[in-house]
Amino acid sequence: MQLNDVGLTKQEIMNMADQYMLYTFPVLPIVATKAKDLYIYDSDGNAYLDFYAGVAVLNCGQTNERVTKAVQQQAGELTQNCNYFYNIPAALLAKTLCESIGMDKIVYQNSGSEANEAMIKMARKFGVDNYGPDKYEIITAYKSFHGRTYAALTATGQPGTHLHKGFDPLVPGFKYAEFNSLKSFEDAVTDNTIAIMVEPLQAEGGIYPATQEFLQGLRRLCDEKGLLLLLDEVQTGLGRTGTLMCYMDYGIKPDIVSLAKAIGNGVPLGAICCTKQAAAAFTYASHGTTFAGNALSCAAGYAAVSEIIERELSKNAADVGGYMMEKLLSMPHAKIRGKGLLIGIEFDQPVAAQIKQTCFENKLIVCQLGANIIRLVPPLTVTKEDCDTAYDILKKSVDLVYANR
Ligand SMILES: Cc1ncc(COP(=O)(O)O)c(C=O)c1O
Repeated sequence: MQLNDVGLTKQEIMNMADQYMLYTFPVLPIVATKAKDLYIYDSDGNAYLDFYAGVAVLNCGQTNERVTKAVQQQAGELTQNCNYFYNIPAALLAKTLCESIGMDKIVYQNSGSEANEAMIKMARKFGVDNYGPDKYEIITAYKSFHGRTYAALTATGQPGTHLHKGFDPLVPGFKYAEFNSLKSFEDAVTDNTIAIMVEPLQAEGGIYPATQEFLQGLRRLCDEKGLLLLLDEVQTGLGRTGTLMCYMDYGIKPDIVSLAKAIGNGVPLGAICCTKQAAAAFTYASHGTTFAGNALSCAAGYAAVSEIIERELSKNAADVGGYMMEKLLSMPHAKIRGKGLLIGIEFDQPVAAQIKQTCFENKLIVCQLGANIIRLVPPLTVTKEDCDTAYDILKKSVDLVYANR
């Protein structure tokens, strides 16, 4: 939809949105009207280099041709079918994804939070079915982020922060332990524990990759104690960190993994993939959602996942991400962390908001994480030349912000 189509000006659209939409985040003062691959265009025709990708969603790039065609075709054929019939894209996506990541079954959902709700419910039902009603406790990590719905929010190990404040009482049965400390997780396990749930790289919590020893140690701990290992790959999954799933770089497999963000390349879709053993917990009507396995979103998902696999976008994420991380080592005032194209730049001062704003004024979109961190999560189609352009704008912005402090 363009301004001409509706006969309104940019200012009228912004006023309308400000009057009727409740924003819980600051909004940049442009109306985005078009996008292609790594560029977003506003209603005045300005082009912005996109290193945020709708918050790590657009792994195949904006308006990717294959995904767009699949959605256009499917929208004219069949969209919604709510569990009553088989549909072609849902079956094709299920096979492609399960076989590529070594899982047996998929359960479709609509978002990351909802996928994590399903993962938590499956683990609890597995515990109750196999060990009795007291086996429901789940241990998650401090600084984790698992979403904003109630169980996902409780699993989010950030007590006392804006995420939890005002939302008590949270859901019982969750405990937190220190990320990257196997001992802390070992100590937290009780007779009531059924699962351990972590992100292989804590993204929203500040860009902290798990160490090999930690993730492999958690897998061993779960095997020894009969616990399920739940991995939240909502942000890390589907090529972002340099392998198709982040866990593939650790030589382990979870019992259940959650996915969302990149799976639909901008069309809302989430999922959990799991082993046959874990899948047995979900029996007839024990879980469901109206839109799950919707033909339209699965058509987008099948196109997006096929594109990521066939174009080897995870390999590009590893190569170009490595190049960018190397380049960023020379950024003043900053420490660099990350994996593939999930990169955090932590500044020694609370300058992230000003740097994001200055980058925006210079036509580069980056993500702010808290007061000190800038996160770079471009589409996985990004090139080294794009990284050179982004680096130059970022460096110029950092110099300007620090010079004016
Ligand atoms: C690791 C992780 N889990 C879950 C979520 C929640 O996903 P959604 O915003 O789609 O509910 C996010 C969102 O950023 C995330 O990064």
